Amino acid sequence: MFLEECQILENKFVGDRYYLMKIQAGKSAGVSKAGQFFMLKCKNDIRVLRRPISLHFADSENSTLEFYYEVKGGGTNEFSSLKPGDSINVQGPLGNGFNTEVEDKEIMVIGGGMGIAPTKYLIEKLSKNNRVTFIAGGRDAGAVKILENLNLDGVKVCVVTDDGSVGEKGNVVSIMQKVLIDNKIDLVQTCGPHKMMEAVAKVALENDIECEVSLEERMACGIKACVGCSIKTLDGMKKVCYDGPVFNAKIIVDVNPKENVGCSCN
Ligand SMILES: Cc1cc2nc3c(=O)[nH]c(=O)nc-3n(C[C@H](O)[C@H](O)[C@H](O)COP(=O)(O)OP(=O)(O)OC[C@H]3O[C@@H](n4cnc5c(N)ncnc54)[C@H](O)[C@@H]3O)c2cc1C
Ligand code: FES
Repeated sequence: MFLEECQILENKFVGDRYYLMKIQAGKSAGVSKAGQFFMLKCKNDIRVLRRPISLHFADSENSTLEFYYEVKGGGTNEFSSLKPGDSINVQGPLGNGFNTEVEDKEIMVIGGGMGIAPTKYLIEKLSKNNRVTFIAGGRDAGAVKILENLNLDGVKVCVVTDDGSVGEKGNVVSIMQKVLIDNKIDLVQTCGPHKMMEAVAKVALENDIECEVSLEERMACGIKACVGCSIKTLDGMKKVCYDGPVFNAKIIVDVNPKENVGCSCN
């Protein structure tokens, strides 16, 4: 984990409330894994806590990092006002990341809404040695515009929006079920709203497919030093910032509940 003061190279408006930031990092770019995240520092001292943002892409050759973010409140609004040449302090990479040490497998990557953020680097890593099907979903055209920034050569892509303005009208789970009728999938990796991931994980587990989910919890420290991000799983209490954010769906979703354990991603 590194603490780096980085120069902003780009901070582009993507659409709606979405932005894409590219920074000149240091050593962190060479060691970052898909699915890890960084804690970004706000300049305004009122906002003491750093904001967790997933790694969108890392270019180890040029030591650059990309973050795709949505303006939600004061912190992300501040990030959106930064200009090329400004600096930002980043801490990371943090968390475990997705399993990318796989070869010759059929992999389904499912990103919903802001959950598309970590899929750029994930797909880049996986598609070198595997066959990847990518299902990307969002509310409307603006929510999936970021796909223009992904290199999807050789990847089977299915886009779905709630309002049908781009791709199919519907949701990622119905597309997932359709794809599973004709295709054998070895591994599902997903990031998105909790309800979406719960549904994806259930379908995967019911079909005996290994599944990884990337959870989001409000975080204070990001480095296992508080209890801000603790969640109850079927394997005991876990800290999302340290044990995750990526978890094996088996410990998050009980497909055959004896009692109502439920899903911790609520
Ligand atoms: C591991 C991880 C990775 C993330 N990756 C991304 C990413 O790639 N892109 C992105 O846009 N966002 C991401 N988030 C969510 C992001 O951290 C929050 O949206 C951000 O911290 C909000 O800060 P703010 O100051 O703008 O808003 P605040 O003023 O702090 O809050 C505004 C709103 O955002 C909600 N919010 C605050 N913190 C979180 C949080 N941790 N998770 C969900 N909602 C939150 C609040 O409930 C409130 O409704 C990630 C969160 C985690 C935990
Ligand atoms: S955010 Fe402090 S322990 Fe995870």
